[in-house]
Amino acid sequence: MNLNFLKTIPVLLLFAGCAGNGGSSTTVASYLNENLPLEERIEDALSRMTLEEKVAVLHAQSKFSSAGVPRLGIPELWCTDGPHGIRPEVLWDEWNQARWTNDSCTAFPALTCLAATWNPRMAALYGRSIGEEARYREKDVLLGPGVNIYRTPLNGRNFEYMGEDPYLASRMVVPYVREVQKNGVAACVKHFALNNQETRRHSVNVVVDDRALREIYLPAFEAAVRQGGAWSVMGAYNKYRGEHCCHNRYLLNDILKGEWGFDGAVISDWGGAHDTKQSAENGLDLEFGTGTDGLRAGTRNAYDNYHLAFPYLEMLRRGEADLATLDDKVRRVLRLNFRTAMNTHKPFGSLNSPEHLAAARRIAGEGMVLLKNDGGELPLDSVAVKRLLVVGENAVKMMTVGGGSSSLKVRHEYTPMEGILEAVGDRCEVTFERGYVGDPTGSYNGVETGQDLSETRSEEQLIADAVEAAKRADAVIFVGGLNKSAYQDCEGTDRRQYGLPYAQDRVIEALAAANPHLTVVLVSGNAVAMPWLDRVPAVLEAWFSGSETGHALTDVLFGRVNPSGKLPFTFPVRLEDNAAHAMGEFPGGDSVRYNESILVGYRWHDTKAIRPLFAFGHGLSYTTFEIGNVKADRTTLTPKGVLHVTADVTNTGDRAGAEVVQLYIGDEESSLSRPVKELKGFEKVQLAPGETRTVTFEIAPEALRYYDDTKGQWVAEPGRFTAYVGAASDDIRGQVEFTLE
Ligand code: BGC
Repeated sequence: MNLNFLKTIPVLLLFAGCAGNGGSSTTVASYLNENLPLEERIEDALSRMTLEEKVAVLHAQSKFSSAGVPRLGIPELWCTDGPHGIRPEVLWDEWNQARWTNDSCTAFPALTCLAATWNPRMAALYGRSIGEEARYREKDVLLGPGVNIYRTPLNGRNFEYMGEDPYLASRMVVPYVREVQKNGVAACVKHFALNNQETRRHSVNVVVDDRALREIYLPAFEAAVRQGGAWSVMGAYNKYRGEHCCHNRYLLNDILKGEWGFDGAVISDWGGAHDTKQSAENGLDLEFGTGTDGLRAGTRNAYDNYHLAFPYLEMLRRGEADLATLDDKVRRVLRLNFRTAMNTHKPFGSLNSPEHLAAARRIAGEGMVLLKNDGGELPLDSVAVKRLLVVGENAVKMMTVGGGSSSLKVRHEYTPMEGILEAVGDRCEVTFERGYVGDPTGSYNGVETGQDLSETRSEEQLIADAVEAAKRADAVIFVGGLNKSAYQDCEGTDRRQYGLPYAQDRVIEALAAANPHLTVVLVSGNAVAMPWLDRVPAVLEAWFSGSETGHALTDVLFGRVNPSGKLPFTFPVRLEDNAAHAMGEFPGGDSVRYNESILVGYRWHDTKAIRPLFAFGHGLSYTTFEIGNVKADRTTLTPKGVLHVTADVTNTGDRAGAEVVQLYIGDEESSLSRPVKELKGFEKVQLAPGETRTVTFEIAPEALRYYDDTKGQWVAEPGRFTAYVGAASDDIRGQVEFTLE
């Protein structure tokens, strides 16, 4: 569909007579001439458009597409979710899938898993692969990645984001965006901004101070725009300063377009625009998903009733809206279009290629986090273990269907159970016990898993059967956690409890009492309480890992892959230990106050000395690492200088593996209160047994700054600082002090 405009190009050739020789030559209209500078082409196209044509490109014409300018051969724009795979094609006006048979995609691991790799190279691989799938499906805008900060473990959409730390999310989002866009597909970074909960997501007004806004909630967006060069940004549903974020003057006009110089298009979240005047004036460029009575009442085209459609056109005609602002919007949409749909040099992309499946498996394996491994319970030895018991619904349940707009239709999803059976072959006897019933259904917008997960046994019976089987097994793997149903890891709702649902704690306690060789595998995008932790030797956070879940999981369980993932967010012991719940508000009412300010995640735990269950940055390996010899190349940093901190990391075990060496900085004398320390650098180092490498971090004064809300600017205040180097936020192996002049 997007290539239709090519057919119209000949019609648009401008004929210029060539005197003297009786022949003629042709000149391509300059907006179609890809050899000319982009801005020149945009101005040319703009100058040819009527008022009506200008307004027509600013809003949807279907669920996921917007019109181009047919008269000029400027094509439509097609969007797709995002952010973990390419959503199946939907019907023109409906969310339901169109039942195509050629739109099954590769599901990549959820973004929490990607963030847990702490490896920007994996983010690049992810971006390249999903960008190729989007391109193959002829999509112009990929609705992702999401970089809303993990504020509370109850947020239903945390699995779509990159964790609690702005530096980690920034480092990971940039390669994703760049690589997607190399395919001629725009990344649409979402949801800008402060969309940290699903409860009352369309109306809640976030009250947050400027320091937290700047230091915690905006940096990953800024990195995506300024370093990643994102071509589009999606406004969030919620309000900030009383204005919906999809037409929020301060966020969109002042910060995004003003301070950051964003030249792309702001796209509303679907149904996120609520007011014509604000949509016209406050930075929205492209409106999608607005509910109109027209759709239900069946007017000829309900999209005409969108704020940035007839109502805006009427304002313009009456002289109540500014024409320069209109042209700015149109330029941004044309820029987006020229960079994507109208780019004839983009590659062709591919869908479900072996490379994409391999990428999904690799990223999933690298993101899984070994939380606990007492007595070397893992990796499992598939020779020594003769009878293996697998327990838990999540071992057999498909997870790519559900969860909201990120739901996918995959060609195949390898469940944990399939992966385990394939991995052990006939070397060992594998049995399965359900253990608990979570959600046996499996459909989303017309995509059905087709799985029959019906169960008639009572909770007591399920536990008794699992325990009996556990007594006979050499080892037990429990696969549980959350799922993509409402009130779990799911868009539109938040979790209702921090503990595991469906009485899973009871099942785990009973299994632990029946068999000492118990591994708990959590499939989730969120932290959960673990009251049984002392009685379970091994715990693995496996996330939602996409198409290749079963393969990636067994790679780790059986030791083909040595785990190297690190937590991108803190697991508190109790919900009350999380800052938003201890000091802030959640979910609030009409407003939600972020009273905890900048003390989000480990910043809170460190500063208030509250021990987490598992700390930010934590993750074990099947080998061991030593980090030492932490040194700085100078003791004083000048305002324009840099300082280097080095550390030696050695693989002291007998397996190859990777360690993430983490640099945190603490401000020892500051006129404003600051967290004990903040992540400012990390490097993932692959090491053979016995190998040592030196890691070097460069510290510039920018890394020492805080946002001074009284001055409205970033300040690096002279004084003493400490650089901490370690393997997790709670596992610092060395530190050095230095002074900023
Ligand atoms: C979600 C977005 C998504 C859009 C289109 C919205 O409900 O918040 O993340 O991209 O729908 O499906």
